[in-house]
Amino acid sequence: MAKVELKGIGKVYDNVFRAVDNANIVVDDQEFVVFVGPSGCGKSTTLRMIAGLEDITEGELYIDGELMNDVPPKDRNIAMVFQNYALYPHMTVYDNMAFGLKIRKTDKAEIERRVNEAARILDIEKLLDRKPKALSGGQRQRVAVGRAIVRNPKVFLFDEPLSNLDAKLRVQMRAEISDLHHRLKATMIYVTHDQIEAMTMSDKIVVMKDGKIQQIGSPLYLYNHPINKFVAGFIGSPPMNFLTVKIIEKGGKLIADEGSFEIIPNEEQAKTLKNYIGKEVFFGFRPEDLTYVKTPAPVNNMQMKISVIEPLGAETHLHLQTKTQQIIAVVEPDNKYQIGDTANFTPLLEKGKFFDKDTELNICEVVKSE
Ligand SMILES: Nc1ncnc2c1ncn2[C@@H]1O[C@H](COP(=O)(O)OP(=O)(O)O)[C@@H](O)[C@H]1O
Ligand SMILES: [Mg+2]
Repeated sequence: MAKVELKGIGKVYDNVFRAVDNANIVVDDQEFVVFVGPSGCGKSTTLRMIAGLEDITEGELYIDGELMNDVPPKDRNIAMVFQNYALYPHMTVYDNMAFGLKIRKTDKAEIERRVNEAARILDIEKLLDRKPKALSGGQRQRVAVGRAIVRNPKVFLFDEPLSNLDAKLRVQMRAEISDLHHRLKATMIYVTHDQIEAMTMSDKIVVMKDGKIQQIGSPLYLYNHPINKFVAGFIGSPPMNFLTVKIIEKGGKLIADEGSFEIIPNEEQAKTLKNYIGKEVFFGFRPEDLTYVKTPAPVNNMQMKISVIEPLGAETHLHLQTKTQQIIAVVEPDNKYQIGDTANFTPLLEKGKFFDKDTELNICEVVKSE
């Protein structure tokens, strides 16, 4: 299998539009790396440059240490699975899977061995004689993956392969692809706009926005140590809450003033925030890091009005309003909450983040990006 390295990779379309800017990514042998970000941020362009389907404008692409920039796609030993499956409608499942090997003049017995092996791995042996139109969406997706497997590539590339499936099937296929990764011990690069897919499937996530990599790290590292407000808000569901607060000094104490209540940053946070006195910053905290208190907490009490209650079964989401801002809390399911009530909460301050209002950088902790 293979290691993929992008060094300063950039893409400019038609000499005018910059879709990818200075991408530096290392995908280790057997690693599962997910590129995630909103639509149009340059994920597919980056993937297509790795596959050789798109010219590389700037930088260098290496596979196992070998420069690939000018190597044609068919010689890169890469297989790509697309969102729309791209199956040939007039061919059977068997022929769809065998096609790539046939045009490479692979020996007939070897083709049969590989197609049967892939069909067994994907549990589609009974479908080999069918045409794509007689398959469900999930089965078609499996055939598309099978077509990649038979080629025994060094690297698998997936471009939003589950987007056309319904929610339930997506969850199932997500697990199947993860399982496949473990069984094949293959290097895989997977593109999605869905942060849950990124979190659940990857060893490593590359978060992109506007053609630029924001941060690279493990799912939990990005969740706990986002480099900026964008990553903090993109990873995690429901997303992190952000309250605009003003840093003031009162009675020798540093305070983050929300308008409706005051938060006292801890010592570590105060070290940085003392440079922000008189200025506004974003106070970020996850919906699950808010604790309901029956009577107002002595410090860091957030009194808010419950505007919406969303019971999801295992947990309940509360929409809470300060005088001017709105946030979400994830709480235990409990019918003590009533719409319109005023309730008291306190944030888990150690997990709280502060972001510069202009640069949107996470300012109170040292954060890495690979
Ligand atoms: N062939 C092309 N010519 C010009 N612009 C393109 C082309 N392909 C993509 N783009 C633009 O490049 C940007 C990134 O596109 P893409 O890589 O497809 O994003 P993503 O996959 O993250 O949604 C978008 O603004 C898109 O419109
Ligand atoms: Mg795309």
